[in-house]
Amino acid sequence: MMAKSPFRDLVIGTETLVPLINNQLVKYINFDNAATTPPLKAVMECINNYAPWYSSIHRGKGYKSLLSTKLYEDSRQLIASFVNASPDKDIVIYVKNTTEAINKLSHRLCQREKGECVILSTEMEHHSNDLPWRDKFTVDYIEVDQNGLLSMEDLEGKLIQYKGKVGLVTVTGASNVTGYINPIRKISGLCHQYGARLLVDGAQLVPHEPVDMQKDGIDFLVFSGHKIYAPFGAGVLIGPREFFLQGAPDYPGGGTVQVVTREEVYWEEPPHKDEGGSPNFMGVIALAEAIKKLQDIGMEEIAAYERQLTEYTLQQLKEIPGIKLYTDLTVKNRVAIIPFNLANLSHEETAEILASKYGIAVRNGCFCAQPYIQKLLKVPAREIKRHIKDPHGLRPGLVRISFAFYNQKEEVDYLLEALQEMTKMYNP
Ligand code: ALA
Repeated sequence: MMAKSPFRDLVIGTETLVPLINNQLVKYINFDNAATTPPLKAVMECINNYAPWYSSIHRGKGYKSLLSTKLYEDSRQLIASFVNASPDKDIVIYVKNTTEAINKLSHRLCQREKGECVILSTEMEHHSNDLPWRDKFTVDYIEVDQNGLLSMEDLEGKLIQYKGKVGLVTVTGASNVTGYINPIRKISGLCHQYGARLLVDGAQLVPHEPVDMQKDGIDFLVFSGHKIYAPFGAGVLIGPREFFLQGAPDYPGGGTVQVVTREEVYWEEPPHKDEGGSPNFMGVIALAEAIKKLQDIGMEEIAAYERQLTEYTLQQLKEIPGIKLYTDLTVKNRVAIIPFNLANLSHEETAEILASKYGIAVRNGCFCAQPYIQKLLKVPAREIKRHIKDPHGLRPGLVRISFAFYNQKEEVDYLLEALQEMTKMYNP
């Protein structure tokens, strides 16, 4: 395992110094990439290079406006090819992020099906792939086992039980809590066998692994720019053009219509119908640039590097006395996410000490996936009731390390030393 990452220099902010609690300055170690990633240097250069050319999209005849519009529109094809969406069938709709993408899809599906179909979500979803479905549909949840792995038997059982009424199965590509990668091709095979469509929440998968919508039979795919080195507020919803033809937009307004009279509205064609208001040019070109860079490197290469770093970390972590890992170590198909707790310290204390004493950033808590955490930690119902009464009190949770391709072994070794020291100090 290389001490340094070959991708280190591609990212901004790896040399930033931050103050510890004793005011000493140390190099910041970011192990919270599942929440958000820093920008690529190429992304910042692209933003600066295009700033002088930036002008309104779809709304002007000036040279800059035509150029900006062309760049914006051409980027759709790049994004589609990155995940091998069907060039004939699929469209790329730009949104803010994964949450907005799923809300948009839930809105349109509800319009089309009048809320009459069943949605199968899973017990491992983060809130963004759970809550948007709840108020509009009957939602059922595919079970996970005691290690948090998705049950394929339960998926098939539920597809059979609902007798063709499942309009959509919605599943995360990779868990933001345990890091498990779900068997997407098998899941899509089952979905299609029983007449259901499949949405894959790619927020945690697309930045780390190659994704092939056509080979894997993915009907809809969503992901966020800010988790893939392009933090300027763009994300994507990809799916069949035909699906988006019918129905009214969730955000009607400028850019969404062909003809409006006092009495009537004729909507634009998708994807424009679903991109109300002035498009986010900077966000989109940032995302396109990040994707170009990842394509140049090769997602297989990135995945191989991150898998090696994760495996090394897991093997070292499990030797630390007093640590409990909340992910099944026999599972090899995973992204670079590791959840744990230390004995005698709350998740909150562990994260605070790592930040204030060592300059290491991790996330702690429930990671916007409370039902999954409750299941993994076997939180009793009466305790959940207590948290409902006291929503700001400390609730059960985990500490999460999450890597990106610029992280490296020497940072992991520093974390391991810190955890060793902490376990000695707090487990005398
Ligand atoms: N889902 C994001 C995370 O896991 C916000 O941190």
